[in-house]
Amino acid sequence: MRQSSFIALPLLSAFAGAASIRPDMRVRNASQVLQPGEFIYANKGKMEIVNETRLRELMLADGISLEKPALDEEWLNFTPPNNTNSSSSAALSRRDGCDSSFITDKTETFADWDIQMSPVVLGASTGIDVTISNGWTVSNSVSVSAGVEYTVIKDVLGLSFGIDYTRTWTSSASQLYKVSVPDGSAGTWVTRPWTTRRYGRTFSGCPGSLVQTGTWTADSREEGSYDSTSWVSGVITACVKEVPNNEQLTRCVGEGTFA
Ligand SMILES: *[C@@H]1O[C@H](CO)[C@@H](O)[C@H](O)[C@H]1NC(C)=O
Ligand SMILES: *[C@@H]1O[C@H](CO)[C@@H](O)[C@H](O)[C@H]1NC(C)=O
Ligand SMILES: *[C@@H]1O[C@H](CO)[C@@H](O)[C@H](O)[C@H]1NC(C)=O
Ligand SMILES: *[C@@H]1O[C@H](CO)[C@@H](O)[C@H](O)[C@H]1NC(C)=O
Repeated sequence: MRQSSFIALPLLSAFAGAASIRPDMRVRNASQVLQPGEFIYANKGKMEIVNETRLRELMLADGISLEKPALDEEWLNFTPPNNTNSSSSAALSRRDGCDSSFITDKTETFADWDIQMSPVVLGASTGIDVTISNGWTVSNSVSVSAGVEYTVIKDVLGLSFGIDYTRTWTSSASQLYKVSVPDGSAGTWVTRPWTTRRYGRTFSGCPGSLVQTGTWTADSREEGSYDSTSWVSGVITACVKEVPNNEQLTRCVGEGTFA
């Protein structure tokens, strides 16, 4: 009996659902010029060129906030009680019985600010082309208050959420897309990764007599790709703006300047 065709069918349909092929998708050929107002929507292993309207629709459908919420700066401002010292952090790694525990207080999912993927290029004459280049990075991260050991909590959270919080993605040069920076402007390639930000607290003791020992925040990105390079899921686009008097290029989404 040949079973293979019967096995293949449910697999195929499962993939068709997961791949979410969109009828309006416009995948382009090598060395396309990304026009102003165009974005690369890189989600898992798929890339599509979309306009801003479509980008917002896709992000809404995927539950990604368009606005990055302000970081709660006060969250990590925690003074551990005197009687717990570092025992709580050490015990976190054991997680046996009720020595220590953590909870997640808040989870936010959003598109992060511009993260650079190429050097800033100054436009000249009819325009200078800029492409994605090597060695720019995006990372997951964990931050802790006093009273929490980073090395311990990153592993505990990692196991709990199935995330490698030490993961870093590094860009590879790509000739697949380029953008033209006109005279009087400056431009760079950027990514705006989908980011899940968690806020939480750590405790020691048993339920009923828990003592808070610290606070933490953790940011994670999602696996994605472009041009066969492992990268993060999110938007890839160019930030191109006029720069009077050769001032530094500021982010198109977010605050601050590029390197
Ligand atoms: C790119 O374009 C060339 C010619 O226009 C075509 O032969 C090739 O199949 C295209 N590649 C892809 C990936 O679409
Ligand atoms: C944006 O793209 C969608 C399809 O992806 C299209 O229907 C719509 O007309 C476009 N909007 C603009 C303003 O170009
Ligand atoms: C912890 O110890 C410091 C110095 O020993 C003291 O000033 C502080 O009041 C103590 N805090 C608590 C919550 O007991
Ligand atoms: C905490 O550590 C300090 C100094 O390292 C020590 O003097 C104190 O006795 C410790 N407290 C407890 C409750 O273990």
